Amino acid sequence: MAKIDITEKVVSLAKRRGFVFQSSEIYGGLNGCWDYGPLGVEMLNNIKQAWWKEMTYRENVEGIDAAILMHPRVWEASGHVENFTDPMVDCKECKGRFRADQLEESDCGNKGYKGRKAIKCHQEGKFTEARNFNLMFKTFIGPLEESSSVVYLRPETAQGIYVNFLNVKEASRQKLPFGIAQIGKAFRNEINTKNFLFRTREFEQMEMQFFIRPDEDGKWFDYWKEQRINWFIKYGISKEKLKIHEHDKLAHYAKAAVDIEYEFPFGFGEIEGIHNRTDFDLKRHTEFSGKKIEYFDDQTKERFTPYVIETSAGASRSFMAFLLNAYDEEEVVKENSDGTKSSEVRTVLHLHPAFAPIKAAVFPLVNRDGMQDIARNITEDLRDYMRVFYDDSGAVGRRYRRQDECGTPFCITVDSDTLSDNTVTVRERDTMAQERVNKDNLVEYLMKKIK
Ligand code: GAP
Repeated sequence: MAKIDITEKVVSLAKRRGFVFQSSEIYGGLNGCWDYGPLGVEMLNNIKQAWWKEMTYRENVEGIDAAILMHPRVWEASGHVENFTDPMVDCKECKGRFRADQLEESDCGNKGYKGRKAIKCHQEGKFTEARNFNLMFKTFIGPLEESSSVVYLRPETAQGIYVNFLNVKEASRQKLPFGIAQIGKAFRNEINTKNFLFRTREFEQMEMQFFIRPDEDGKWFDYWKEQRINWFIKYGISKEKLKIHEHDKLAHYAKAAVDIEYEFPFGFGEIEGIHNRTDFDLKRHTEFSGKKIEYFDDQTKERFTPYVIETSAGASRSFMAFLLNAYDEEEVVKENSDGTKSSEVRTVLHLHPAFAPIKAAVFPLVNRDGMQDIARNITEDLRDYMRVFYDDSGAVGRRYRRQDECGTPFCITVDSDTLSDNTVTVRERDTMAQERVNKDNLVEYLMKKIK
């Protein structure tokens, strides 16, 4: 299968099945913004919940949820007002705007140039000199649109954690090393958005800042790097599709940085960054706010500014990676009623059961002999434990195919045997194997498999 096809097919499935829609589609869409549909929001929540459990259900990590709008001085202290820029050029011919450092990869979407790469359709000399463009979205707080009321939509969630370091330390009585985790929206006015959810203007991050003694930075950097790679593997991404990219050019705050990259159809791309941010942020907030952000070690009697190891994953980008990773088209050979064989292609999402938006679908084989009522009762019984879906329309084979496309790991069919022996057929998505299970044991059976 051609690589590019997969992204197109996944975007199409995502729309058809209600995972992701273009934002404001009826108005022609808004570039760089996407909406999550009924199945998408469920899957995204499952990813965020798995991350939250993994990161905060431990003794030394606390969670917070800070406001998106913060005091504008935060972004001066963090360096974003000064440094959070991309080099931008304009094409004098088509008037398109491009990132100067990504001309090879940027598509020119302008009239007459559509479908071509920026560098190929505009000859040299037609670009303006590169100038720095700040990626933060600006807005105003209160009724007056003047410079004293400027605030920014946060471009990363991390700063909400740094400014709350003392609050969380006091409230939770944590001692170093300890972390603070947060999931939330971030906004960047990207010059070029591209590749579906990969680079968007509004997205979600799952970030954790781990505060440590400065002399332990190497140890904790390696620890979190390993933890985070293993998290992606645990939820179904194969090792071969992941790569660690070591940065030689570092962000203004970092002493060391690696990216966890996933092999997208367009090539390897970052899904999470692990950064050694040193004491840069806490020291800068001390300087800009006048409030000392330090730690006193009551055993060694030392007072110092902690170092920070950051794990920074994109929830939306991880969602895209998990969706692409799960997508498959398989040839299935089936036996016809006359004994002949034929084959068909089934499209299936091999999502990890914990991420699947619907865990089980329940079907009556036919709509008679009370099978619908039994199937409805099973659906209601399961609803207390998981998200379930009832479907009694069309041939059962077609119902299976629909659920395969949604990534539903289990389909339960009520048939004539159910009426006599109380068992149902449970069909597993990946192997398509079928098993008879007593309907009274379904909750236990499914919960074990889903975990
Ligand atoms: N606090 C550090 C930080 O924000 P980053 O490497 O700029 O680091 C972290 O971003 C993660 O956020 C990335 O690995 C990516 O998953 C996600 N991300 C960043 N910019 C994004 C964008 N424009 N669209 C979607 N996800 C993005």
